[in-house]
Amino acid sequence: MSEKTGPSNGGESGARDKRASTSTPILPVLAERWSPYVLDPRPMNREHLVTVLEAARWAASSYNEQPWRFLVAERGDAAEFSRAVDCLMEANQAWARNASALLFTVVSRTFARNGSPNRVAEHDLGLAMGNLCAQATALGIVVHQMGGVNLTKVRLAYQIPEGLDPVTAVALGYLGDAATADEELVKRDAQPRVRRPLSETVFAGKWGQTSPII
Ligand SMILES: Cc1cc2nc3c(=O)[nH]c(=O)nc-3n(C[C@H](O)[C@H](O)[C@H](O)COP(=O)(O)O)c2cc1C
Repeated sequence: MSEKTGPSNGGESGARDKRASTSTPILPVLAERWSPYVLDPRPMNREHLVTVLEAARWAASSYNEQPWRFLVAERGDAAEFSRAVDCLMEANQAWARNASALLFTVVSRTFARNGSPNRVAEHDLGLAMGNLCAQATALGIVVHQMGGVNLTKVRLAYQIPEGLDPVTAVALGYLGDAATADEELVKRDAQPRVRRPLSETVFAGKWGQTSPII
């Protein structure tokens, strides 16, 4: 497949159109999602925030365990929001403090039905996050996920019980104005979006052998 789909050069959407350049067309919400650093520090639309969490709720999960949980801090609640920012690694605080809402994702490690370990708990949390990202994109909300979190701080600050573990932080918000933003963040947002090709990702027959479907 040689034809690429992606941002047009200098089209009406301008420099911040970060649509993926895909080898074949994919759903617009998947191609249009990206992880921006320059955010506009305005309040979150509460209804939209609930909607993205509802989308996450409807993800598939092993035995329908729904091992995901979310802690939410809205920008509008200054004290709570600042407590959440404080749980991020410093490099992430620098830009994520402009988010409209911050989430911490939490996973339950054991099945509620029998107490046995859930080997795929984080997989299922990832599915929920995929749903959340797609729904957010459809609503014009940008999402930037973070592994750079002080997990011990999160556990203590929110009194997360044993058996459940914080995993990531998630910044939700709106694209900021590159003209007035920190130069370093603008530079990061200008980087092209790249991915390993399918030929190095999809194998058949034996490990490392590109599948003939590609
Ligand atoms: C689980 C996870 C953790 C991430 N952690 C961080 C992080 O701590 N800081 C950061 O700036 N970006 C982080 N990112 C964003 C990735 O760098 C980004 O998704 C990746 O470069 C691909 O870019 P795109 O999302 O714009 O397609 C994380 C993304 C995911 C899914």
